[in-house]
Amino acid sequence: MTGFKILKSALASWVPPAIMRPGSRLWRRMNGLGWYNLYGCWPSFTDVPVTPSNADRDPWAESIGPGWWAAVKAAPAAPAIDSGQTILPLLASQFAGPFTVCDFGGGAAVGLANMIRYGRVDLTRLSYVLVETPAMSRAVRAELEAQSGRAFDDIPASLPGPLIVHASSSLQYMRDYPATLARLAQLEPRYIILAQTPLTEAPTFACQILNTPRRVMATWVFNRYELIDRLRALGFEQIFAADHNIPLTHGKAKGKTVIGSIVFAPARAGVGLSPNFAPS
Ligand SMILES: C[S@@+](CC[C@H](N)C(=O)[O-])C[C@H]1O[C@@H](n2cnc3c(N)ncnc32)[C@H](O)[C@@H]1O
Repeated sequence: MTGFKILKSALASWVPPAIMRPGSRLWRRMNGLGWYNLYGCWPSFTDVPVTPSNADRDPWAESIGPGWWAAVKAAPAAPAIDSGQTILPLLASQFAGPFTVCDFGGGAAVGLANMIRYGRVDLTRLSYVLVETPAMSRAVRAELEAQSGRAFDDIPASLPGPLIVHASSSLQYMRDYPATLARLAQLEPRYIILAQTPLTEAPTFACQILNTPRRVMATWVFNRYELIDRLRALGFEQIFAADHNIPLTHGKAKGKTVIGSIVFAPARAGVGLSPNFAPS
């Protein structure tokens, strides 16, 4: 998989977009995925036509096989292709004493894998907490506990600090994302990383995501300033933002969507970036 990602990234830098984009659409179609990454625009999550599914079914959990952790550990420390993956390892590397990472919607411990791959993290000081769907927690819990991690089906009421909350490519799948943000903020983290999240300058809208094999799901595309304002109301300010060069195609889009990452820290009076700070 890592080799494939490296090849894809290399192709993206050599092959002109006019050839690369139709080529990657064709590849997605051949693999049972959608022609576009995203499709349409709806005002709310529940309006989006999706593939009916049992609440306990998680398409990501269904892709986790036995031995997933061994595969993660065997993966070479390749250069990070996607800079959104490196924010957690960078921030985690600064803690000299015990600290906690809450990886919200972290899949098969992707945040932990990235800290191992890209960071200088002392794992003996790290308390890694994965918050996932019940299906994903079930799929990874035994192996994760063997690595001294823990898996929860819901956001715990409190966690020991200093704490980093990491939500990479997961907040957009939460129907009630304001409630999720409020619960994550209640943990009083040192940082909240919203990594690899679909962002737009248009008002927040919902759409279909066609990247999950044989299943159409709903996703939010967030107005970036709305997220910043929501976090500000919860006592956090933006300290870093980057848009990533991830190729994205959106059929019947309202405006441009980018995949970006925003990092928040507790607000300090009179300190911080301009409220209008955004990546250029
Ligand atoms: C696109 S994957 C991202 C995985 C990982 N964070 C990454 O960066 O690769 C989205 C993840 O969100 C998780 N997820 C969906 N609904 C969730 C919920 N209600 N609570 C926690 N996690 C959820 C899914 O199980 C899935 O692992």
